Amino acid sequence: MSNSNKIDEEIFYPSEEVIQQARLKNWNDLADFAAKDLEGFWEKEAEELEWYQKWDKVLDDSGKPFFKWYTGAKTNIVLNAVDRHQKTYRKNKLALIWVGEDGDVRTMSYFALNREVSQFGNVLRAMGIQKGDRVTIYMPRIPEIIIAMLACAKVGAVHSVVYGGFSQDALQERIDDSQSKLVITADGGWMNGKIVELKKIVDASLRKCPSIESVIAVKRTGHDVRMEPGRDYWYHELIKLPIANGFCETEQMDAEDPLYLLYTSGTTGKPKAILHVHGGYMVGVYTSLKYVFDLTDQDRWWCAADPGWVTGHSYIVYGPLLMGATTFMYEGAPTYPYPNRWWALIEKYGISVFYTAPTAIRGLMRFGESWPKKHNLTSLRLLGSVGEPINPEAWKWYHRVIGNERCPIMDTWWQTETGSFMITPTPTVPLKPGSGTRPFFGQEAEILDEEGNPVPDGEEGNLVLKNPWPSMMRTIYKDPDRYVEQYWSKYPGKYLTGDSAKRDKDGYYWIIGRVDDVLKVSGYRLGTAEVESAMVSHPAIAEAAAIGLPHEVKGQAIHVYCILRAGYNGNDELNEELIQHVAKHLGPIAKPEKINFVDSLPKTRSGKIMRRVLKARAQGLSEGDISTLEE
Ligand code: WTA
Repeated sequence: MSNSNKIDEEIFYPSEEVIQQARLKNWNDLADFAAKDLEGFWEKEAEELEWYQKWDKVLDDSGKPFFKWYTGAKTNIVLNAVDRHQKTYRKNKLALIWVGEDGDVRTMSYFALNREVSQFGNVLRAMGIQKGDRVTIYMPRIPEIIIAMLACAKVGAVHSVVYGGFSQDALQERIDDSQSKLVITADGGWMNGKIVELKKIVDASLRKCPSIESVIAVKRTGHDVRMEPGRDYWYHELIKLPIANGFCETEQMDAEDPLYLLYTSGTTGKPKAILHVHGGYMVGVYTSLKYVFDLTDQDRWWCAADPGWVTGHSYIVYGPLLMGATTFMYEGAPTYPYPNRWWALIEKYGISVFYTAPTAIRGLMRFGESWPKKHNLTSLRLLGSVGEPINPEAWKWYHRVIGNERCPIMDTWWQTETGSFMITPTPTVPLKPGSGTRPFFGQEAEILDEEGNPVPDGEEGNLVLKNPWPSMMRTIYKDPDRYVEQYWSKYPGKYLTGDSAKRDKDGYYWIIGRVDDVLKVSGYRLGTAEVESAMVSHPAIAEAAAIGLPHEVKGQAIHVYCILRAGYNGNDELNEELIQHVAKHLGPIAKPEKINFVDSLPKTRSGKIMRRVLKARAQGLSEGDISTLEE
């Protein structure tokens, strides 16, 4: 990856056409209002949505850092994402366009979406799922994953979606931690022309998950899978039962009631469940999509992420449906069967706004311009980027080749924890390739040194957010101490992002990357400790350290250093076996790029592995302060 941290002085200004079309002509009008009256701004946004009962207070910070928003209010995110559209012309417009990797197509109007979410909601209730119960969803990118999430929310259950690229140990750990009663899955999904065996992985995980009472499987691929009598049910059979018919009441939720858990990697081996709630999350996601992508119900929006990550939660499922837009979802790989698959879909379905990750852009860039050039991409009006810093070279290619120099690129910086965009332009803001520009309305960011002093412009430091916002995580599920410790204690009263960044003289922010042991591999968030624990679960491995090193397409790639147990030989065969072992236990997304067999690992005197030193050595850089290194 080239120069992702370089401060690039090239500036791209919006065209007259973009300014004409923009809902918000002047960033400052709204930014000033939100800066002066944070609660007033978020109250006004919330007024645009429906509530069974309005709030007593917009922001309650009496228990900070456990902030509460819209206290006293009652709503349900489904009331706004699905129900309210039934009373308008949107009832007859498309909520979803879905294309399978094998060419299957399914479209659903808001009316049809409501019908199926209601049917499945009735099924969930009939199976004993109640308000507050956790449900794990482990599915491919098919319409039913959206329906399952919405049906859970509708009946007040808390969904915990586990990305389909994770494997048995990762799934088992997440089911167990959430104490889910039900798993919703599919027989499999299509990816790169092959079936991903989801149901098989569920079966393997459930050997150790006593909380699970039942499994519901969608038939997607139709290949043979084992169904355990009394535990496993087919989705298509359940929603045809008489019990599924009839009105399904949307549960009235307190604004602060949990909507979902989403596991994400942090600095320790055990992934943590980030908790989001119905009210504030709904307002944050709605508002961010409205201003940043200027979305309206006329748009065909494609967020090419997976619903298993926060980007998919907020911007495939909830955000676009809250806006009454049409959300587009594609099941498979961007290069299957040819590297023009995405561009062909944009043309065929008239996508107006396209949102993806830098790693995908870099990957597709390699195949050359001739692939996108085969297609008419003039339906696009805006582009987006998320997940990792976008290097200026990829930014410019995306802008020129995909956006035909017409479409501004919204580089949105945010996290699972923030729920919605935090540092981002809006369409009329002048852009610098590689910078997410500035904090969203109502937010202020700072870049601090280790002592908590702001660093001078142009210097690197820890990125923190100063103000609370409605879609902020409420806690780490079952671990409020860790929430306080990890996010709010280094600089009391300020939210620690875990990223390092710089600010330039124009006030633009440049994200450099994680400062903790979190990896970003092809935009996926993984913990070094998770990779290490998958490695040491293999009998040959005594100790392992994982680090991320720069990679041209993936952004970062995983390199592992490990010490073998006596009697094992670090040969090619073992190397391959270990890679497969990590894929089987943690997931194919976590496959190491390179495994190095070593005799010792750099450690502190207290025995902690110094990954920083490994990383510096691997890149031929200075090892920095090694006074604590034990040799
Ligand atoms: C990184 C994904 C630079 C960052 C939404 C953050 C980014 C982590 C950007 C969160 C961006 C996300 N520019 N870096 N536009 N967006 N990141 O929780 O390091 O999967 O802390 O959420 O991704 O990853 P997560």
